[in-house]
Amino acid sequence: MHFDVFTLLPEVFPAYLETSILKRARERGLIQVDVHNLRNYTHDKHHTTDDTPYGGGGGMVMKPEPVFEALETILPPPGPESKIPIILLTPQGRVFNQTIAKELSAHPRLALLCGRYEGIDERIREHLVTDEISIGDYVLTGGEIPALILIDAIARLLPNVLGDPTGAEDDSHAMGLLEYPHYTRPPEFRGWRAPEILLSGDHAKIEKWRREQALERTFRKRPDMLEKAELTEADKKFIQSLRP
Ligand code: ADE
Repeated sequence: MHFDVFTLLPEVFPAYLETSILKRARERGLIQVDVHNLRNYTHDKHHTTDDTPYGGGGGMVMKPEPVFEALETILPPPGPESKIPIILLTPQGRVFNQTIAKELSAHPRLALLCGRYEGIDERIREHLVTDEISIGDYVLTGGEIPALILIDAIARLLPNVLGDPTGAEDDSHAMGLLEYPHYTRPPEFRGWRAPEILLSGDHAKIEKWRREQALERTFRKRPDMLEKAELTEADKKFIQSLRP
């Protein structure tokens, strides 16, 4: 997977991309992340990327020319074979979730455009951008952290990025439920014992316990998720047993 990030703050990205799983994924060629500085696509002395809004009002607006020039320079022209999604990170976008991460992970290449200032010239949104994504209903100072969130969530879904071959299958949200609780050694810590069933070696019982824990957690913490989750008859019966 090839990510092209377009930003006015390229210095934000290396620390995170050069750490841990994303670093290893890049070294192994599983992902490529190219961060492009929009300022390099300006032609005036001051490298201007923003201007005051037509019609007045406060704040500054990202100018269209550097954004169009950067994307048109870096990305191949769209053709029948290659349609690279051009994603604007903005609080106005569709709200990011695991389903969208999975959907985007199917593309070989993605362009991520980070907004800054109070907004971007609307012609960028109308004539360049093909998708808009928000990471939640709150407003950040820019799209850089949202872009990193997309890269992280998408990269870990790609084959071989996670060390464990079952990878992301059991994650919270992957199966429409929150994940079951985890324990590791020691079996007893400060008088608190790990559940005996996990130490029993009985895999069928462990599977059943984990499923029920996932159902119960979701029921208690995120009941809204149960409406969309794929549930068996046994699952439904178990959830019924939790109701007062
Ligand atoms: N830019 C500013 N706030 C944002 C948000 N919530 N999601 C995506 N991009 C943003």
